[in-house]
Amino acid sequence: MTVYAVTGATGGLGGDAVRALIGRSVAPADIVAVVRDIDKASELTDAGVAVRVADYADRDALEAAFAGVDRLLFVSGSEVGQRLPQHTNVIDAAVSAGVGLVAYTSILRADTSPLQLAGEHLATEKLLADSGLPVVLLRNGWYSENYLASAPAAIESGVFYGSAGEGEIAPASRADYAEAAAAALISADAGQVFELAGPQHLSYADIAATFTEVSGTPVRYEDLPESDYAAALVGAGVPAPFADVLANSDAGVAVGALDSDSTDLVDLLGRPATGFRDVVRHGIVATP
Ligand SMILES: NC(=O)c1ccc[n+]([C@@H]2O[C@H](COP(=O)([O-])OP(=O)(O)OC[C@H]3O[C@@H](n4cnc5c(N)ncnc54)[C@H](OP(=O)(O)O)[C@@H]3O)[C@@H](O)[C@H]2O)c1
Repeated sequence: MTVYAVTGATGGLGGDAVRALIGRSVAPADIVAVVRDIDKASELTDAGVAVRVADYADRDALEAAFAGVDRLLFVSGSEVGQRLPQHTNVIDAAVSAGVGLVAYTSILRADTSPLQLAGEHLATEKLLADSGLPVVLLRNGWYSENYLASAPAAIESGVFYGSAGEGEIAPASRADYAEAAAAALISADAGQVFELAGPQHLSYADIAATFTEVSGTPVRYEDLPESDYAAALVGAGVPAPFADVLANSDAGVAVGALDSDSTDLVDLLGRPATGFRDVVRHGIVATP
């Protein structure tokens, strides 16, 4: 019997990964869902999954949560800037608990990526390498869902703003990344590095065209300098540090940092990836 664990299990990727493990015939009783807020975990408990509580800030709780775990899906923390101390705790706890393999959700081509976001991921990859743990790297590209936040305003105003120039991106749905992570957790060997991205190559003009197609309202792409785009995001209510990260990520898109020809995602899925249009159509319908 192999015991699997998933951190961030009350989040989007972690929750989908738990469901994907069950969908791939892992018994719920063999899955440990590591959560920081038990009140959010009722669906997991109802599914028969073992829920254990640990915050990334609490190394001892993490070690207790990882007891008996063979293969751990380590979902990166969502508090950008706080990731390194948190991830150090997760890795130290996994070593102490004797976890057999850790699969970490990193970022596409973390070792060469110019994105600000890549810094904490690359540092985490190094911590993992130094830990002696058997490691699998799941280097995720951009979620298609990232564009759902801007879709309503773009459709209402007819303008989709960004700072990606004519660069292309290969996004994939979060559920597909989660299912690929579950597949890798079950079957990947230590040392494998997966560069995960969708099969489409979309410019921001293509994304605007998708908004047009799905909404029936004309939307055009307007490219802004990185600093103007960051300022526009702040004007729309995005906190300044996060606006800078988003604008910097768009600048990365402009130079191809989130584009990829890798087939690792569809290879792990064993089926076609969910198309960008379907994510937008579903997301817009789901937005009140
Ligand atoms: N590649 C991309 O395009 C992309 C896009 C968005 C996010 N991400 C990153 O990818 C990762 C997973 O994404 P996601 O969509 O699943 O994000 P999410 O829905 O925000 O889930 C993050 C999960 O991490 C948990 N978490 C955060 N801080 C924690 C802490 N200190 N201790 C324990 N658990 C903690 C959260 O717990 P709670 O449920 O209690 O909040 C949540 O379950 C995150 O690192 C996120 O920042 C990537």
